[in-house]
Amino acid sequence: MHSTATQHNPMWLPHVITIDGPAGAGKSTLGELLARRIGYLYFDTGVMYRALTLQALRDGYNLHDAAALEQLAHAIRIDVVPPTVDDDRQYTVLVNGNDVTWELRSPEVDRHVSLVSSYPGVRAELIRRQREIGLRGQVVMVGRDIGTRVMPDAPLKIYLQASLEARARRRLHDQQRQGLAPTLEQVQAEVARRDALDQHVMAPASDALVLSSDNITPENEVDWILAQVQRDTTP
Ligand code: DC
Repeated sequence: MHSTATQHNPMWLPHVITIDGPAGAGKSTLGELLARRIGYLYFDTGVMYRALTLQALRDGYNLHDAAALEQLAHAIRIDVVPPTVDDDRQYTVLVNGNDVTWELRSPEVDRHVSLVSSYPGVRAELIRRQREIGLRGQVVMVGRDIGTRVMPDAPLKIYLQASLEARARRRLHDQQRQGLAPTLEQVQAEVARRDALDQHVMAPASDALVLSSDNITPENEVDWILAQVQRDTTP
């Protein structure tokens, strides 16, 4: 791992790499792997929308009240820190100081997060916070609109896509690991529903490299991305 990182002189790496794409395409696996290979911070922006949704549900907010949710977006404290528990998590998410890492993956949050993230006032505040982290550099940022809205000047943008079936299978696997037992058809319907709701933020940036994860391992995706970097920076 370390030898690979040193083969790539950090001077030649883009300061920010964005990975966008639909739910279940494998963005978080790729993002974490890539970040680890090049010694960058891995930042999954979806957790911010999930954290806000979880808090709104817990506090009994009307999820159709855009103004109230915007206020909550301004007030809520969300910290994403290195894993504090050794249970397969990629990071720990604290909301107002409390660990909510696994609660963010509950079917209830899954069901409502697209609605909460559709409000422009909510997006403006969370995008502002995401951009602040992105501008510090040395970060792989994963989401839906990172290359188009959050970090439009990022020098390297990836758009990861996959078939609906492959994405549903991945989500099914995630849910089974959490002890849930939905059918593939149920998960596929849920992923398709979220695609429709997320549509407004899902277009790839015009300068993104589009990669399909259907027939390639995450390790090979990383190799492919680093090969593009080397090709673009070799005189
Ligand atoms: O990647 P995810 O499934 O954890 O994202 C959760 C939701 O947040 C998803 O339905 C869309 C929204 N999202 C967004 O609108 N913009 C982002 N940059 C990241 C996520």
